[in-house]
Amino acid sequence: MKKTVSTFKKAKEEGTKLTMLTAYDYSTAKLIDQAGVDSILVGDSLGNVILGYEDTISVTMEDMIHHGAAVARGAKEALVVIDMPFMSYQASVYDAVMNAGRLMKEGRANAVKLEGGASVCPQIKAITEASIPVVAHLGLTPQSINAFGGFKVQGKSEADARRILEDALKIEEAGAFAVVLEGIPAKLAKIITEKLTIPTIGIGAGKDCDGQVLVYQDMLGMFSDFVPKFVKQFANVGDVMKEAFENYIKEVQAGTFPEEKHTYSIADDIIEKLY
Ligand code: KIV
Repeated sequence: MKKTVSTFKKAKEEGTKLTMLTAYDYSTAKLIDQAGVDSILVGDSLGNVILGYEDTISVTMEDMIHHGAAVARGAKEALVVIDMPFMSYQASVYDAVMNAGRLMKEGRANAVKLEGGASVCPQIKAITEASIPVVAHLGLTPQSINAFGGFKVQGKSEADARRILEDALKIEEAGAFAVVLEGIPAKLAKIITEKLTIPTIGIGAGKDCDGQVLVYQDMLGMFSDFVPKFVKQFANVGDVMKEAFENYIKEVQAGTFPEEKHTYSIADDIIEKLY
């Protein structure tokens, strides 16, 4: 059965943990969906793990729509959330609603995610009023790394912790149905989780969040440029892939692949006529 915003609401009420993983293509989305995840996030982290950028700043609406639509075709049950890329919502409420609408119409998103607190509440309210469910994102928000001065854990001082908590209450009031908490102390995430009526989805925010999200290349050991402290590698698919690629190269070079069973036949008399 298709997961919806009601699945998130019910999970918070019943205290069951929500699961979210990123995906950026049809085949991976299908596998993740079949595993039974609640939600697939088409994160703008695709800038890092798919396109090889240093950060998410250069990711475009076209990138998000292209990858989002592929994921949506593979996700039969999981709720598909597509990230709003940098500068697709910050400049105006009008931009935000129109771009969220594109992610839903062209990318087939079930919901959109955007980064920020009080400053983007007018956008969250307007997008929600356009019947597009919104996931908010607080803490170490990667689109703000230039303002933060790098990828730094947020909310460690009293003032910062208080601001993030206040932002969380504001985005809930503005209409967000869930919030991603990234790179903040676990005890702060716990307080936020207790104070909100919408679910918190943590990444580097400890075990007390209502759910967890990870970038799939990180949890499968497929992305080695940078491995954050909060990542657990549930498998080492990167090594398995490398070994398979090496075996393929060896077998092609040695002439042991393809074998008879990998080839198509044709009648000998037809072949003779071609000589
Ligand atoms: O872009 C992304 O993948 C994200 C997650 C890390 C939460 O925003």
